Amino acid sequence: MHRKLAAGNWKMNGLGASLAELETLGGMHATSGIEVLICPPAPLLSRAADAVAGSAVTIGAQDCHAARSGAHTGDVSAEMLKDAGVTSVILGHSERRQDHGETDAQVRAKAEAAIAEGLLAIICVGESLEDREAGRTLDVVGAQIDGSVPDHGTAHDLVIAYEPIWAIGTGKVPTLEQIEEVHGFLRNRLSTRFGAETASGIRLLYGGSVKPGNAADIFAVSNVDGALVGGASLKSADFSPIIAALESA
Ligand code: PGA
Repeated sequence: MHRKLAAGNWKMNGLGASLAELETLGGMHATSGIEVLICPPAPLLSRAADAVAGSAVTIGAQDCHAARSGAHTGDVSAEMLKDAGVTSVILGHSERRQDHGETDAQVRAKAEAAIAEGLLAIICVGESLEDREAGRTLDVVGAQIDGSVPDHGTAHDLVIAYEPIWAIGTGKVPTLEQIEEVHGFLRNRLSTRFGAETASGIRLLYGGSVKPGNAADIFAVSNVDGALVGGASLKSADFSPIIAALESA
């Protein structure tokens, strides 16, 4: 089993002044028994990598293009991320799926590109409120996993984040039983595809309104190997207790 992972997704938040938060976080977590990752917006990536150098914190991106280079105005390749000092990339976040119409096939192609560069691909899945209320949650996340996760995935280069869309940025969190049900389902689905040994090493993160106050309960749920945290990752004072809860889980 790989080390548990606390990942922060800054989304489209953060300017140069926010690097001070990273320095504080790096100072608080010079060493850690878990993996700590912050994913700032693209313009900050290389400075962020410098800001956390020598600490247990590493830097990830929030998206990449599937191609290595070429005529794709405004896009960033996995190779460029690697060159900027990035270790990981979030792919197929629901905001990208919604705002940019990203499909499972596109997410899979991006993940293949990221893995080929030696980056950790953090692939996001999650149902809408409508899907949840219609009892379609497992069908939806199952189809997303099947479509978005590349073949030949390994525990070394793949992480799955379960993020119910209705829980993102809303302060609403599924019950612990609901989280357990989906995470157990995801583990089985990965096991069918990659075999039990590989599947048991692929970290499954929960994401959606994780806060210092609910983190410990969520981390006690079986098959939860960490969290993908949005709002509460912006300030080291909020993210640090979440890291501590995962360390002691
Ligand atoms: P939130 O976002 O923690 O602000 O709900 C989570 C995410 O979208 O990754």
